[in-house]
Amino acid sequence: MVGAALSAVFVFAAFAASATAAKCSKDSHCPSDSPCCSLYGECGVGAFCLGGCDPLMSHSFDSCVPGPVCKSAKYSLDSLSDVQSIDKYLGDASKINWQSQGMPAIYTDPSSGKKSTLLTMSKGTVGTLLASTHYVWYGKICSKLSTAQGKGVVTAFILMSDVKDEIDFEWVGVDTSHVQSNFYSQGVTNYKNGNNLTVQGGSTLTEHEYCLDWKPDTLDWYIDGSKTRSLERKSTWNSTSGRFDYPQTPARIMLSLWPAGLSTNEKGTIDWAGGEIDWNSPYMANGYYFARFSEVSVECYDPPSGAQKKGSKSYQYTDERGTNDTVAITDKQVILGSLLGTGEKPGDAPKSSDPKPTGNAATVPGGISGGGSRADAESAAPAAASSTPGVNAPDGNQIVGGADQQNGFYQGGNGNSGSSSTGAGSTVEPRLGGSVLAIVVAIFGLCVL
Ligand SMILES: *[C@@H]1O[C@H](CO)[C@@H](O)[C@H](O)[C@H]1NC(C)=O
Ligand SMILES: *[C@@H]1O[C@H](CO)[C@@H](O)[C@H](O)[C@H]1NC(C)=O
Ligand SMILES: *[C@@H]1O[C@H](CO)[C@@H](O)[C@H](O)[C@H]1NC(C)=O
Repeated sequence: MVGAALSAVFVFAAFAASATAAKCSKDSHCPSDSPCCSLYGECGVGAFCLGGCDPLMSHSFDSCVPGPVCKSAKYSLDSLSDVQSIDKYLGDASKINWQSQGMPAIYTDPSSGKKSTLLTMSKGTVGTLLASTHYVWYGKICSKLSTAQGKGVVTAFILMSDVKDEIDFEWVGVDTSHVQSNFYSQGVTNYKNGNNLTVQGGSTLTEHEYCLDWKPDTLDWYIDGSKTRSLERKSTWNSTSGRFDYPQTPARIMLSLWPAGLSTNEKGTIDWAGGEIDWNSPYMANGYYFARFSEVSVECYDPPSGAQKKGSKSYQYTDERGTNDTVAITDKQVILGSLLGTGEKPGDAPKSSDPKPTGNAATVPGGISGGGSRADAESAAPAAASSTPGVNAPDGNQIVGGADQQNGFYQGGNGNSGSSSTGAGSTVEPRLGGSVLAIVVAIFGLCVL
């Protein structure tokens, strides 16, 4: 059933610049000329081969660029210098810690002067996603944040592996006194995995610290230092598949804000999110909804005893089962020369004298390659500094949108999706209990319709 749900949404991850971009699944791997299967289930090169590239659906295990190993760090998220748009990032995780889609912005608290990162979502866009360039293979991952508010607006802090193991904290903007915790194994939908946790004092007005303590045998969700949920691996045995349905593969950290309540979405999704989004909401400021992230910290745990250790720099899958024992730690590092590169053929950086690449393979998943949504993004830019900051924030704070982000990739479409007979909504399973992946894929796919 899940396979059906996922492949259904994948159908919509078409690509504007190459409408014929091949779709990928476990049963249908990508072809050799566009070998990488993106998170969105479509084949391409370049960014398709970086974070989120699914090795079990790509042309070969070497098509995807191996994932940079876990790095213990504390990110203050007070500048965008550490953030690169997905259509610019070529895989050098030693220089860039976060990849972005959409419109992140820097917010300065007027009273403390403290800066933090806003994920913004204005009308006609599908929000903002930040993904870590380093993976975590067990560790304690924490984030301090305050969520967006309003019907249909969802804030998320999740871990997502390339084979779609997933661990979630999700906030629905109509219920700011709870956070939904969830987990998935290889993208398999299980409606019993979700669990609502109480957020004392609400998630919007005050910042809280949320932590995931992820070990090979146990997974704990913490809020402000209190353990609020615990999962044991041994409780997740699936006798049908003969494995534990427990998140067990290296995952990226993803922070996001997205519109589950788009009118084009499936009714179950909209209902789950508390209704359709009001684009004239008092919860918006400067023309956008926003979630504020002020810190992410990562404490890496040792790789599991018995892990295949052939090096210390990257994670690479060795077998199509996609389980914990099929991940090797290797010394292989790949930085693409350009967005035409792949894990096997990273290519050279183009020289200025080179003709413009004419490759017709899709290079930026869910995005653009010289077409589409950039122009729309301009109008979606957050108002510049000095405008009123946010409903929940004191007056006078400054918001600075990354100017360079203006040329970056935007998931936001221009509303065309609404008129499309194949709106992503019709492809999403009722959202209740569904994975973030399914909805991210469906919604972020909108921009290319
Ligand atoms: C969690 O709360 C939401 C409302 O925010 C509700 O729709 C959902 O059914 C709850 N889920 C569980 C598992 O209790
Ligand atoms: C067990 O795994 C199979 C195959 O992946 C899946 O279809 C099924 O839903 C899983 N069972 C549960 C209870 O999650
Ligand atoms: C993988 O998980 C199994 C339990 O499913 C465990 O026995 C084994 O030690 C783990 N191996 C690695 C390398 O993590």
